[in-house]
Amino acid sequence: MAGIHRTKDSDEQKNDGLTPREIVAELDKYIISQNKAKKMVAIALRNRWRRRKVKDDLREEIMPNNIILIGPTGVGKTEIARRLARLAEAPFIKVEASKFTEVGYVGRDVESIIRDLTDLAVSMVKTEWVEKVQDKAKEAAEERLLDLLYPKSKMRVENQGRQQNVRSGTELPSEETPEDRQERTREKLKNQLLEGKLESRTVELDVASDAHPMLQIFSPIGIEEMGLNIQDLFGGMVPQKRKKRKMSVSEARQILLAEEAQKLIDMEKVVAEAIRRVEESGIVFLDEIDKIAGREEGAGPDVSREGVQRDILPVVEGTNVVTKYGMVKTDHILFIASGAFHVSKPSDLIPELQGRFPIRVELNSLSTEDFIRILTEPENALVKQYTALLATEGVKVTFTRGAIQEIARTATEVNDRAENIGARRLHTIMSALLEDVLYQLPDESMEVVKITAEDVRKRLRNIVEDEDLAKYIL
Ligand SMILES: Nc1ncnc2c1ncn2[C@@H]1O[C@H](COP(=O)(O)OP(=O)(O)OP(=O)(O)O)[C@@H](O)[C@H]1O
Ligand SMILES: [Mg+2]
Repeated sequence: MAGIHRTKDSDEQKNDGLTPREIVAELDKYIISQNKAKKMVAIALRNRWRRRKVKDDLREEIMPNNIILIGPTGVGKTEIARRLARLAEAPFIKVEASKFTEVGYVGRDVESIIRDLTDLAVSMVKTEWVEKVQDKAKEAAEERLLDLLYPKSKMRVENQGRQQNVRSGTELPSEETPEDRQERTREKLKNQLLEGKLESRTVELDVASDAHPMLQIFSPIGIEEMGLNIQDLFGGMVPQKRKKRKMSVSEARQILLAEEAQKLIDMEKVVAEAIRRVEESGIVFLDEIDKIAGREEGAGPDVSREGVQRDILPVVEGTNVVTKYGMVKTDHILFIASGAFHVSKPSDLIPELQGRFPIRVELNSLSTEDFIRILTEPENALVKQYTALLATEGVKVTFTRGAIQEIARTATEVNDRAENIGARRLHTIMSALLEDVLYQLPDESMEVVKITAEDVRKRLRNIVEDEDLAKYIL
């Protein structure tokens, strides 16, 4: 257990101190255009770092710069938030605000956002820490495997045998004691084990069976609301059922490795660190916030809209949420809301909520020029993705500049004519364009596929021109 005690400082997430410019530069690798939005989220992120440096009492007063991203579908709202979270190595969760209008969910699910976020953070920190004790855990797991292959009890039996021998006066053939011999056998086995020669051997392992049939009957909707469940409540009291199972050495190693790693990390510290991260650097992405905007009184769904906003408010304002890991303070969690706001406006939100989202950024709809860049520039650009996919079949696919332009132009055209789904249109177009190649490989032999503007036109023209067909395919 030694060696994993860490100070808070060394646990600070690695990209925590990025400057706003650096954050934007990182976001630029994935998101084209939308400079204003990138700038604002960068400021919000940096402000949290700044806040942590402020003296105690004032620090508590500084609120996060919650943001509303406004813009049509498929222009990068979610993508910006997701990349930001990944960059900050922050616990991140995306939820649809409109989901809370569902009957029976009102008032309940809102706090569950924080519980889910905490779950996520716990497994995130745990994974990190497990990674750090991996070497030690591996060593311990190998020892236990060895015990399974060459049980200790067997050694004891042999020992007893030896004592009898001694008593009956039988001389041992050499100076080697039985202990030495066992040690040698064990050493030999160990080498074979480490060389991977025993992988398919069968061993019997005591495994925890996670079934709690009696308790599951009560699996509680009511209790889950508080972030607790029976299993956690009684988990410690009801002895965990264990049963013996036969399995291969390689399978047993996985189980033992997990068990040993678990032993090496201090779950209490993991939880404490996870809660700290949620509280200080958690990011909640509230999608479709426009769908719950509106204050009109009267019949219909609008009545509950305001109700949902009222439910969301305390979590955004800062409250304590009970989770199964303990209390989590939401005061400094960063909320990024997003919506198209076609019908409603941010000003249709209840004033308290408006006040909690002081920063509004509009994202622009994407031009053909943007599409060209989106197709080719980001680290995960579609053209790069398909090129890599086809390379696995030994095919080198290239797109001429003209082809890219034609794809982008087609995307704009279909977006204008049918529904504007932004950059998502590029996905449907690319898959329609490459359908044949993707299907024919690897059966038909080709080594180089060069896609020109003419190919794009030929392949897509008739689909684009047939409005009904376009609706279904593109
Ligand atoms: N500006 C952009 N730069 C690069 N890729 C983009 C951009 N905008 C969108 N994309 C691509 O389109 C996909 C959809 O974008 P995203 O999920 O961010 O849309 P959104 O704005 O959140 O839309 P919605 O309002 O429907 O949720 C992303 O996965 C990304 O690949
Ligand atoms: Mg989205």
